[in-house]
Amino acid sequence: MTFTPDNELDLLFPAALISPQVKSQLHQDVHIRPLASTDHGRGHLAVLSVLTVATDLGEAAWVAQFNAMRAAPQTYYSLVIVDKASDRIVGAGALFVERKFLRGLGSVGHIEDIAVDKQQQGKKLGIRIIDALTHISESAGCYKTILNCSDANIPFYIKCGYEKKENEMAKYA
Ligand code: ACO
Repeated sequence: MTFTPDNELDLLFPAALISPQVKSQLHQDVHIRPLASTDHGRGHLAVLSVLTVATDLGEAAWVAQFNAMRAAPQTYYSLVIVDKASDRIVGAGALFVERKFLRGLGSVGHIEDIAVDKQQQGKKLGIRIIDALTHISESAGCYKTILNCSDANIPFYIKCGYEKKENEMAKYA
């Protein structure tokens, strides 16, 4: 498949929110952009499966989820890195902006679901995804950006400029 430019895609959020600095730091073989409505066909779920179970319920169900996220403006920011030669997704990440009543009606950015294709790990794609999501969070006025991760990934997030704070609690249904 040939590379599809941003202006031919139906994007989750405006492409102008992607940091120009992060774009310029990326290798020319890849492109970073907001998630597009046709990205189910570019291997979005396959990339997410390096992180956890990413069951494929079919393109229509995937698109319905995309549309539900887009219907909540200024809240969901999923982005992807695409390999230009194949037009396939090789990296993905998401930011969720939570509005609060405290901190003067402040907002918090939650970074979620960071995944880089196994063949592409160690090539600085992960750090670029975090930089891009942090930029969106700070541009949206979030007073902090937070995430949960395993102990094994702590050194990666420290390289991204994050520090360890408090603990995560979980209760699975
Ligand atoms: N331990 C120590 N250092 C690490 C690790 C690690 N586990 N991972 C990356 N680094 C370092 C790299 O060596 C590099 O250091 P350098 O700048 O000194 O050369 C720096 O961090 C940046 O690394 P990248 O090349 O950008 O990392 P990569 O593209 O491989 O992405 C990621 C890292 C996202 C963790 C990737 O390995 C991955 O997809 N892993 C599987 C899924 C996963 O665990 N995702 C994170 C879940 S947490 C969440 O989603 C909030």
